Amino acid sequence: MTNKEGVTEVHVVILAAGQGTRMKSTLPKVLHKVCGQSMLSRVVRSARSLNPASITVVVGHQAEQVRAACEGESRIGFVVQEPQLGTAHALRQAEPVLTGKSGTLVLLSGDVPLLKGHTLLGLVEAHTRAGAAATVMTAEVDQPYGYGRIVRTGGAIARIVEQRDASPEQARIREINAGIYAFDLKPLWSALAGIASANAQGEYYLTDLISIYRRQKLAVETLQVGDPQDVRGVNSRSELADVGKVVRQQKNAELMAAGVTLIDPDTTYVEENVEVGADTVIHPGVYLEGTTRVGSACEIEANVRLIDSVVGNHVTIRNFCVLNGAVVADGAVIGPFAHLRPATEVGQGARVGNFVELKKTVLGPGSKANHLSYLGDAVIGAQVNVGAGTITCNYDGVNKHRTVIEDGAFIGSDTQLIAPVRVGKGAYVGAGSSITGDVPDGALGISRGRQTNVEGWAERKKSGAGGTGE
Ligand code: UD1
Ligand code: CA
Repeated sequence: MTNKEGVTEVHVVILAAGQGTRMKSTLPKVLHKVCGQSMLSRVVRSARSLNPASITVVVGHQAEQVRAACEGESRIGFVVQEPQLGTAHALRQAEPVLTGKSGTLVLLSGDVPLLKGHTLLGLVEAHTRAGAAATVMTAEVDQPYGYGRIVRTGGAIARIVEQRDASPEQARIREINAGIYAFDLKPLWSALAGIASANAQGEYYLTDLISIYRRQKLAVETLQVGDPQDVRGVNSRSELADVGKVVRQQKNAELMAAGVTLIDPDTTYVEENVEVGADTVIHPGVYLEGTTRVGSACEIEANVRLIDSVVGNHVTIRNFCVLNGAVVADGAVIGPFAHLRPATEVGQGARVGNFVELKKTVLGPGSKANHLSYLGDAVIGAQVNVGAGTITCNYDGVNKHRTVIEDGAFIGSDTQLIAPVRVGKGAYVGAGSSITGDVPDGALGISRGRQTNVEGWAERKKSGAGGTGE
C-alpha cells in the first residue's frame, strides 16, 4: 500500500511481552531505564523517526504495568500475548490489527534501546530498494554470545541459529541477528503460522522465518549496521549497565566536542536532553539530569546533582550541592553543601553558602545567605544579607505562609521569621530575634530577652557560696 506521496506505508511492531528472566527483576525488563529513560520509550522514540502509519506494542508479562508506562505516548496501540511462547508467537498477536494492510512491517525489540532513527530509515530504504520479503539487520561483534548467529551459504543468509541451538562451529560466527527486521506484509502471516517450536527452548522463534522464506525462494536480505553498539540487546543487569555507559559516553563526547571540559568523563553522568555551554568545567561525580541547562563558563564542582534546573553563565556550584527545579542567574555562587528545591530562583551574583536550603524562594540579585539557613516560601529582594542560622518559619502545621524581605535589608544571625511576615526596605533585624510582626522600612526589629550580668557569680559558685540560685 502506498500513501499520498507514493511512499510504501510502514507499520511498526515492538515486542515487549517477555518476562526478561535474566534481569531477576519484579519490574518488566523493557521498563528498566537507560540514562533516565525506559528502554521501551527509547525504542518508541526511534520508531517515530520512520513516521509510521501505526505503532503496535506487544505486551504480556505485567502487561498492565507496561501499558501504564506508555500513557504519555500518543498514537500507539497494544496487543496482548498470553502466554508468551516466543518471538514468532508474539508477532502473530499483531496480525488482527494489521490484516488487510500491505507495505512494510518494521519489527523492533523492546530490549534493544540504542537504535538510532537514521539506522531504521536505512533499513527501510534498503529493504524497499531490494524488494525483499525480509531484511534482517545484522552486526559484526567481538562477543556474539547470547545472540542469534547469521549462517550464510554462498554469501547469502541461509538461516539464523540461536545461541542455545548453535553447534560449536556456528557459535564462532561473529555476525549476529540484531533482532530488528523489515518484512513485506504480504507473505508474512501465513509464513509465521508455519513456524514450529522444535528447539532448545520449545519456543516459536521468529528467526525461523528466514529459512522458511529461503525454502519458499523469497528474497531475504541483510543490512549490517555501521556501529554495532547501536543494536546492543539487554538481557541482564550487566548489559543494562553496558548500554547506559554507551549513551553516557556518546553524550560526554558531544559535550567535549562542543567546548565543555569534563575533568573525568568516566564519572560524569549527563542525560541526553541536558544542555551545557562552552567553557564550562565539570568535575567528577556530577549528575546533570532531566531538562537541566547549564550556561557557559560555569564551574560545576565534584559530586553536584542538578535535576531539571537552569543555570546561567559564569556560575560556580561548589561541591556536594543538590539543585532540583531551581533557576540560578549569571555569576551566582552556590555551595558547598547547598540544597535548592523546586521553584527556587537565585538572582544574578547572589550567594548561597554551606548548609543552606531554599524552597519556593526568590533570592534577589547580589543577596547572600551564606551559612546554615532554611528559606522557604520567601521573596527576598536585592542586596539582602541573610545571617547565619536564619529560618523562615513558613508552616503552621496546616498552611504555608510567605516571608517577604525587601531590598537592602539585613537579617541578623539566628533569626526566626515567623510567617506571614515582612521586613521592609533597608530594615535591620537584630541577631537572635523571633520576628512575628512586620518590620517597617529602615527600622530595627529586635525581639529577644534583655541580658543581665551577675557580677562575681562564677567565683562564688566555685567556692560553694552560691546564694543567687543561678
Ligand atoms: C532475540 C533473537 C536473537 C537476537 C536477539 C537480539 C529470537 C528467537 N531470537 O533473542 O536471534 O540475536 O533477540 O537482541 O527471536 N518477547 C515477546 N514474547 C515472547 C518472547 C519474547 O514479546 O514470547 C520479546 C521480549 O520481551 C524482547 C524480545 O521479544 O523484547 C526479544 O526476546 P528475548 O527473549 O530477549 O530474545 P533474545 O534471546 O535476546
Ligand atoms: Ca533480548
